[in-house]
Amino acid sequence: MTHTPVAIRAEGLRKHYKEKRALDGFDLTVPKGMVYGLLGPNGAGKTTAVRILATLVRLDEGQAEVAGHDVVTQPRRVRQKIGFTGQYAAVDEVLTGRQNLRMFGRLFHLGAKRAARRADELLEQFDLVDAADKGLKEYSGGMRRRLDLAASMILAPEILFLDEPTTGLDPRGRNEVWQAIRALVTSGTTVLLTTQYLDEADQLAERIAVIDHGRVIADDAPAHLKSLIGGDRIEVVVHGADDIPAAATVVARVASGEPQIDEENRRLHAPVTDRVAALTEIARTLHDQGVAVEDIGLRRPTLDEVFLSFTGDRSEETAERAMGETVKEEAAV
Ligand SMILES: Nc1ncnc2c1ncn2[C@@H]1O[C@H](COP(=O)(O)OP(=O)(O)OP(=O)(O)O)[C@@H](O)[C@H]1O
Ligand SMILES: [Mg+2]
Repeated sequence: MTHTPVAIRAEGLRKHYKEKRALDGFDLTVPKGMVYGLLGPNGAGKTTAVRILATLVRLDEGQAEVAGHDVVTQPRRVRQKIGFTGQYAAVDEVLTGRQNLRMFGRLFHLGAKRAARRADELLEQFDLVDAADKGLKEYSGGMRRRLDLAASMILAPEILFLDEPTTGLDPRGRNEVWQAIRALVTSGTTVLLTTQYLDEADQLAERIAVIDHGRVIADDAPAHLKSLIGGDRIEVVVHGADDIPAAATVVARVASGEPQIDEENRRLHAPVTDRVAALTEIARTLHDQGVAVEDIGLRRPTLDEVFLSFTGDRSEETAERAMGETVKEEAAV
């Protein structure tokens, strides 16, 4: 056996539930030792993909290898190498944090002593020492998720699947979980993380696959994904709503793509190629035309825009739906 630097390889995965296609030709290659983000809206197929890779759901078609083992023919081998934290926590309410971890250790056939020692290590690693002997009712959301992560790390898995690990947490809880995930990767674990949060993928993942309708529609480093939608953006905030049309005309002439307009905040933004030249040109023209500008600047596109451009704006279906609505509105006038 040769050592391959690939942790997860999935090819052409298909899975349907009755009429519903949950996965429709899903491909993914996850190199070892990184956080890989699987980003997509509700119902995109994230949980299905992760559950297939974790051998919890059977695939209909395709092939997947996790830690060098086939998920269909060698599921037990795969299970020995992975940890899994589902969308919903699986810890016992009545027990303390320490008791929970010991219990999981026993479930994984560690002896009492080893289970106790492993529990102590994990409490330390996930910064739960102070809370170790408190009942879970006293735990914050972030603490619970960290305990959940700790439970999935009992056997120090090579690969950890995290399905929306921060959904429902407040910003502080999210930060605590992010810290814990970063620490895991530093210690050598490969993490496949699903999320609906763009900033989360941007914060944690070295690479991101954007998934929609059961297939990967983009797959790249976060910075490159951003550059795909036109690199830097110019953003102009005008003084009054009346100024928007004039500003839009100016921005459209210089920018490399259609300006997007946020009427409510009197804000326009558009991709630009030559950032400084575009900024200068737009600022000067707006000034010459007497358009009152409150703010103007350049910024990197957010992952939100990447996501929208792949799953929303550019999808034919959405375009068709949008056109349908426009037609209806026009008809109603
Ligand atoms: N057990 C099931 N029975 C029937 N349909 C299912 C089942 N599991 C998933 N689906 C459907 O398959 C599609 C993909 O679901 P999946 O849970 O994988 O999406 P997801 O990306 O994890 O969504 P979310 O962000 O809401 O967790 C959805 O349309 C869902 O309704
Ligand atoms: Mg899900």
